[in-house]
Amino acid sequence: MNISVIGTGYVGLVTGVALSEIGHTVTCIDMDPVKVETLNKGIPTIYEPGLEELMKQNMASRRLSFTAEHSKGLSHAEVVYIAVGTPQRADGSANLDYVEAAAKDIARNITQNVIVVIKSTVPVGTNFHILNVIRAHTHDGIQVHIASNPEFLREGSAIKDTFHGDRIIIGAEDTETANVLEEINAPFKMPIIKTDISSAEMIKYASNAFLATKISFINEIANICESLGANVEEVAKGMGFDHRIGPDFLKAGIGYGGSCFPKDTNALVQLAGNNHHDFNLLKSVIEVNNNQQTLLIDKIMSRFGKLEGKRVAVLGLAFKPHTDDLRESPALVMIPKLAELGAEIIAYDPIAIINAKKQIKEKIAYTEDLSTALQNADFTVIITDWPEVKNIDLLTFTKLMNDPVVFDGRNCFGLDAVKQANLEYYSIGRPDQTSELIS
Ligand code: UGA
Repeated sequence: MNISVIGTGYVGLVTGVALSEIGHTVTCIDMDPVKVETLNKGIPTIYEPGLEELMKQNMASRRLSFTAEHSKGLSHAEVVYIAVGTPQRADGSANLDYVEAAAKDIARNITQNVIVVIKSTVPVGTNFHILNVIRAHTHDGIQVHIASNPEFLREGSAIKDTFHGDRIIIGAEDTETANVLEEINAPFKMPIIKTDISSAEMIKYASNAFLATKISFINEIANICESLGANVEEVAKGMGFDHRIGPDFLKAGIGYGGSCFPKDTNALVQLAGNNHHDFNLLKSVIEVNNNQQTLLIDKIMSRFGKLEGKRVAVLGLAFKPHTDDLRESPALVMIPKLAELGAEIIAYDPIAIINAKKQIKEKIAYTEDLSTALQNADFTVIITDWPEVKNIDLLTFTKLMNDPVVFDGRNCFGLDAVKQANLEYYSIGRPDQTSELIS
């Protein structure tokens, strides 16, 4: 099938590459000509394991191309995916300006009947609104149908998630449109759930909100465990064996970040509020997460009292491993606080430093070398559970740091190993290994 994808961010680029890989002829359109030039050289504009190889293969097979011209990109399209950003407005609601602009571009440039598929995460009701926008601007005689096909990929494992996901959701109002979408997606060999458009839109928000709820729930349990001397890892393990609960998304830490959970939970609270429903549960999930992101500061302050002149190694800047994305990363909360308290900061990340420099205003040092970060540090703060950090020989802390004091926001190490390495160690929801215990 001839498919066009508007937007080459995480969702758009991965979707375009994946659809070409399963045999469709795909044109990806982005309004940024510099980005398109880079993509046309076979260079991905995002960091995503496995993406570059697939992109190059499908470009070589002439199933995948990129353009900045909507007229060129849309003229042969039978199906057009909209995969542009829906950033958060100041009031928490989703900003639909880019989706509306894409709708108008489609209307003005299509030359035959099309199905428009919305991949972007959009509030319930948006698909119908966008269909009206397209119909209002399109040439007479051209038929447009719309379908909702929300995305469930995770940054850092987007290729794996696309080819081995749990389900594909197709929301459509007529059987013919739903069947076309089913046929397009059949080669992914995943369960396909066909439903109405509003339910499909809601499935996306409800899924992200539920996952965020699981994380805030286990983080609250972690905080209670700390007061009671229990270990949250043991608790999560014991809970996860119950198949009704499941073991995933029960990892306690310094809170969720990224471009999706914070934005989508706020948008759902807003959406509910607009419909006279006070979503108190989700409001608490958000509040717990906001508090969680600064939890380590309290631990650091009760250990040191003041931070002037202290050298701190911050390990990890990205909101999670295997991505160079810092959006809503706890690092963006922790670093300004540590700097304000007078700490001298050196931050380590294997791939996110370029993006970090654009977003972190404070004057701090950066390194892609773990040993350089730890050298002469008075304490360490772990923000991202990069494999490089998780697999470090714990004696490295003792050897390189002034004092081996570690505040671990991701529970990277087992408590027995920490004891053996004589680290002073503070983590989330587990008993501290304090200086008194060491001596
Ligand atoms: C999330 C969803 O998992 C995807 O299904 C969805 O498609 C995507 O949002 C989206 O809406 O586009 P993503 O934000 O890429 O994906 O990352 P996750 O792996 O879900 O992690 C989100 C945050 O939760 C990270 O900061 C991670 O560290 C944190 N997390 C995750 C925990 O703190 N504990 C856990 O047990 C799991």
